[in-house]
Amino acid sequence: MLTPHSIIAVIGSGTMGAGIAQVAAQAGHTVKIYDIQDGAARRAIDNIATSLSARVAKGKLAEGDKNAIVSRLTAAQELGELADAALVIEAAAEQIDIKQSIFRELAAVCSPEAIFASNTSSISITAIASGVEHPQRVAGLHFFNPAPVMKLVEVVSGLETSPTVLESLTALALRWGKQPVRCHSTPGFIVNRVARPFYAEAWRALEENVAPAGVIDAALRDCGGFPMGPLALTDLIGQDVNFAVTCSVFNGFWQERRFLPSLIQQELVLGKRLGKKTGQGVYRWPLNEELPYL
Ligand code: 3HC
Repeated sequence: MLTPHSIIAVIGSGTMGAGIAQVAAQAGHTVKIYDIQDGAARRAIDNIATSLSARVAKGKLAEGDKNAIVSRLTAAQELGELADAALVIEAAAEQIDIKQSIFRELAAVCSPEAIFASNTSSISITAIASGVEHPQRVAGLHFFNPAPVMKLVEVVSGLETSPTVLESLTALALRWGKQPVRCHSTPGFIVNRVARPFYAEAWRALEENVAPAGVIDAALRDCGGFPMGPLALTDLIGQDVNFAVTCSVFNGFWQERRFLPSLIQQELVLGKRLGKKTGQGVYRWPLNEELPYL
């Protein structure tokens, strides 16, 4: 049973891990962030504090509330410090072996009642749970970027996931001001299954020189009614994350061509032009200038 006093652990302090930690701390939880990279969790907390200070400056958050939120966030040095977590949300790299080994290690540390949730965008929850002690406690809890802003959360069941766990996560997401939707584990769940061909077609239009990236994006953003064009959105998500998810969904559906990954996107990943987080992707960030893409 998850309560507003439950301790939440977040594994991985990248864009999604940090965003999820912020959401949980804003909802009043004590949050422990663990990242395998030394100092990364601490840096994520500093970044959250900076972004909350911007909200204070805009008059959208009281200084005292900001300080209280930040004080609820701590950086864990090792997984052993997460023993008292009632819920662990894993937001590590989109690779099944990494996720499986994190949860296997956590099972040796956390109580058998602790819920293990993965923020995976595309990987089978059944596969992640297999080999983890008490697999009925493993579920997907998939947030969208930026996690503090986007309402949608997919609550994903694997073959073994217990209904009680799904109900607890759904209730929690509602308490956090999110709009949870329940779905079964298949590659990409709902959103990434439907969105992948959308991104893929934008990449193909770019590859075939139908129009420059800015024109493709503007057409969909300004005329299509999306908040961002598809190529700018891949920059926001991170080219590495977006490419890994596309590959995962492509392989999950036995390499169906509608999910075919883009070679241009692969070049951006290889060149470490990862989008917003590195300052360059399809665009130069802050979003103001289109870069030549190859
Ligand atoms: N963290 C916290 N708050 C943020 C934020 C962030 N990273 N980015 C923006 N915000 C807040 C701003 O502070 C602002 O708040 P306010 O209205 O209270 O002042 C509000 O969001 C709007 O931001 P901006 O005015 O700076 O800019 P926009 O109005 O252009 O909105 C956007 C930015 C919210 C990113 C909007 O462009 C958008 O909704 N884009 C689409 C995002 C999307 O589709 N995400 C899903 C990606 S898919 C995914 O994540 C799945 C994964 O599996 C791959």
